[in-house]
Amino acid sequence: MMVLVGCNAPVQEKDISQKADSVLRLLSLEEKIGQLNQLRGRPTTPTNTKDARYVIEDEIRAGRVGTFLNVHPLEEKMAFQKIAVEGSPHGIPLIFAMDILHGFRTTFPVPLGEAASWDVPGIERSARISAIEGAAVGFMWTMAPMVDISFDARWGRVMEGAGEDPYLASLIAKARVKGFQGDDLALPNTILACAKHFAGYGQVLAGRDYNQTVISQRFLHDYVFPPFKAAHEAGVGTLMSAFTDYDGIPANASHYLLTEVLREQWGFQGPIISDFNSLEELVNWGVVSSVKDAARMGFNAGTDIDMMGLVYIDHLADLVREGKVKEATIDTAAKRVLIAKFKLGLFDDPYRYFTPGLDEDTWLTPAHRQHAREIARASMVLLKNEEDLLPLSTGDYGTIAVIGPTDADAINLMGTWSAWGKPGNVVGIVKGLREASGAQVLFAEGCNQQGTADPALMRKALETAGKADLVVLTLGEGWRNSGENTSLAKITLPQVQIELAQQVQKMGKPVVCVLFNGRPMAFPWLNENMPTILEAWLPGTEAGNALADVLFGKYNPSGKLPMTFPRHAGQVPITYLEKRTGRPYKQGKNYTKYLDMPNEPAYAFGYGLSYTTFEYAGIRLDQDKIGFTDTLKASVTIKNTGDYLGREVVQLYASDLVASVSRPMKQLIGFKRIELQPGGEEEVDFKVTSQDLRYWNKDMIYQADPGEFKLFIGTSSAEGKEVVFTLE
Ligand code: GLC
Repeated sequence: MMVLVGCNAPVQEKDISQKADSVLRLLSLEEKIGQLNQLRGRPTTPTNTKDARYVIEDEIRAGRVGTFLNVHPLEEKMAFQKIAVEGSPHGIPLIFAMDILHGFRTTFPVPLGEAASWDVPGIERSARISAIEGAAVGFMWTMAPMVDISFDARWGRVMEGAGEDPYLASLIAKARVKGFQGDDLALPNTILACAKHFAGYGQVLAGRDYNQTVISQRFLHDYVFPPFKAAHEAGVGTLMSAFTDYDGIPANASHYLLTEVLREQWGFQGPIISDFNSLEELVNWGVVSSVKDAARMGFNAGTDIDMMGLVYIDHLADLVREGKVKEATIDTAAKRVLIAKFKLGLFDDPYRYFTPGLDEDTWLTPAHRQHAREIARASMVLLKNEEDLLPLSTGDYGTIAVIGPTDADAINLMGTWSAWGKPGNVVGIVKGLREASGAQVLFAEGCNQQGTADPALMRKALETAGKADLVVLTLGEGWRNSGENTSLAKITLPQVQIELAQQVQKMGKPVVCVLFNGRPMAFPWLNENMPTILEAWLPGTEAGNALADVLFGKYNPSGKLPMTFPRHAGQVPITYLEKRTGRPYKQGKNYTKYLDMPNEPAYAFGYGLSYTTFEYAGIRLDQDKIGFTDTLKASVTIKNTGDYLGREVVQLYASDLVASVSRPMKQLIGFKRIELQPGGEEEVDFKVTSQDLRYWNKDMIYQADPGEFKLFIGTSSAEGKEVVFTLE
């Protein structure tokens, strides 16, 4: 029997809350706990004993499951929903979730790559399209955006986030939440978002996935919380706890993180879900001695839903009967899930997300492809162009050789977490260059992506390169080395790829080196020997077209690094947000440094070249002192002094010269993307108030202090003009 409570129009929160209460009252304790149990779809090959422990249809019929992860076939979702609505005791509809991070059938650059575009509206549109495509086949909840801040390129999951800077990552978190959720979750093309992984996962010790973290409460507030707070303020429907610990307590069992911060300080109302099986893993952490105690600790800390752990469904009812968990708390958690279902309109129409018979490629619309192409080319970062080899002129090269393993497997161009992206839909590098140039475009992989040497492949590659007028050398880390559980101690390119580059370079032909990677990598030999290097990330379905647009100048690259590129793994973790310390770099005799390497990275946060050049005039302030309620106007005139129309991300950083705690040397507080014709110039104005200068002071109060500040406006965090002003 389906509990029919119509809610056609976007209903108010209070109305939904009352409706959720009316359903909750009907449920037994077991059924309430069922809402807190997330199962996954039938894996093609059961990979762990848990899948074998139950029959999905029986669990649904018994009201023992509230949401699903990764039920892929639309027919299967419809069948499961039918059982839930018509065959379970109170007909509560199911929510179907999936990790939809950077596209669904149309894939966009991996999120870190997208962040390099600094195109916040464009990033929102990517999430919007992802939701439209995922919702069309019955997914109502995405486990995204991932908003973890990280300074550590050894951690492969940096590809899922927006890099190292809290300000940029906060804007992007908000854009992705708005893109996924739209303005009304009850619409059939908007889906619940899930900000993850709360909190501090990006700070894993030694860059090793799933490891412990060693961060302070202040670090959490300064760097880790801001993107989550932004997602919360943007109305994110759910949050996911992290695999990691904070202050010795695993995040999914941290009352401080999940209840004190999220519920009591921020007022977050949505469901909090554990990460996959992580509740059971509390036993491994050694904070509980049994899985049952893990259920108690995780639930009482504030984790509402158990993702595929079977821990809540096995033990919560007993824990209530033993008085170790309050039924009132179960009610609160179950109600959060019911509210999410009301917001999605599932009680009104549980089948609204199912459009049977939709052609699989409905979603690869020209508009979706065009956006994929635009956001991918905007994400590419020009690292070097010393001989102005770029942009290429289509008539200059009769034969172009694409050399390198990337194009051997289109999945290398999509990256992991690419949902239903199909390699067959990807426009590869050869195809893209051929269509753009009209030249003969040859291909040889030269080595395989796994980095094993193969003399035959090398020979073939050099022979192929020998026939070409230009070589496009495509190197990188491949999809297998990017994403979850892909930490690397060495963040260099595989040695076979360096050898390939060296052999190609010896041929004395013009070479464009293009990197396809999901993390910042260290490539010292390329930096020293290759005059032309473009960072293309893992660019998605329109990879080849986007790359061709950039290489042939149809799009002048405008990407800026959202994460510092180190010279060497030994510099990691590395960030522009460093403090000056008591012995600042290059000041005096003893200062913070390495004996064997400069402190500077290979490429700084915010770095990215253009085919044109931009000249920054000095910063002009409309006043050199402001009060707490004043607005300072900082202006800088920028001129396009080159020969191409160009886009520039003008970055505004602030530096708090004296505060009650030591502060970063500079911190991003604003930016503007401008476009200038050759010879054109524009005055870029920034407004700065005391609100922009707040920090968590020694008493952990978020406010600005009076005193001297430096403003830095530039083309990257390392290059620009600065000026001092006073807040009084
Ligand atoms: C994974 C990831 C998480 C993802 C979840 C479901 O382990 O940590 O980001 O959402 O499992 O796939």
